[in-house]
Amino acid sequence: MMLEISNLNVYYGESHILRNVDLSVQPGQMVCLIGRNGVGKTTLLKTIIGLLKPRSGQIKFDGQLINLKSPDQRAKMGIGYVPQGREIIPQLTVKENLLLGLEARRKLPKSQDISEEVFALFPVLKAMLTRRGGDLSGGQQQQLAIARALMGQPQLLILDEPTEGIQPSIIIEIEAAVRLIVATTGISVLLVEQHLHFVRQADYYYAMQKGSIVAAGSTSELSQEVIQRFLAV
Ligand SMILES: Nc1ncnc2c1ncn2[C@@H]1O[C@H](COP(=O)(O)OP(=O)(O)OP(=O)(O)O)[C@@H](O)[C@H]1O
Ligand SMILES: [Mg+2]
Repeated sequence: MMLEISNLNVYYGESHILRNVDLSVQPGQMVCLIGRNGVGKTTLLKTIIGLLKPRSGQIKFDGQLINLKSPDQRAKMGIGYVPQGREIIPQLTVKENLLLGLEARRKLPKSQDISEEVFALFPVLKAMLTRRGGDLSGGQQQQLAIARALMGQPQLLILDEPTEGIQPSIIIEIEAAVRLIVATTGISVLLVEQHLHFVRQADYYYAMQKGSIVAAGSTSELSQEVIQRFLAV
């Protein structure tokens, strides 16, 4: 198993946010976490990457227990993360933003060139390498944030609502790029997403309510009931 979470409980102070969460991602699998606002989706992702400490439960990555590893150690083990809201650095150029992604690698490459694979996935970035990140549109910034995470050569790519606030034509591009990453690189993906069309690109879904996983299954069997309960469509 690429990622295996069992019986995870996470608190903010005294508020019990995640309750006995079990979730797994297999190698090469694309998994989507769905659920309404405020149910704990981001909290789960932040716990996986090490920004929050669970009170109990296990997080295993590639068979290894990682509960006690720092976020930096987890990144170097191969967990890439694109936060909700993207968090690219507006004053730096597109190229400088991309190069920051190299810090997640265990060994720095000799060359500081951006691989053509990144541009194949996100052609728009190639023409914009010298532009400031902050001058890009929301959709372009999201593509930059995903590309930056790929620069770290992750085995597992975690995306928190990559299409939030983005116009429909760009949503389709981002969706296609993520699907292509899974199909061509063997990278596993765990994403939080609200758009049904994007959710359907995943192989498997988990639905969260009040910090618990309350439904899960193949996305080919997403019922109307699940869609209405857990997605804002
Ligand atoms: N730093 C914090 N301190 C205290 N409570 C928090 C903090 N961050 C989030 N919460 C609470 O934890 C719960 C889960 O929040 P979380 O951000 O994980 O939800 P979410 O499912 O990602 O929501 P959204 O769809 O709006 O992104 C919410 O009730 C939220 O108010
Ligand atoms: Mg969130």
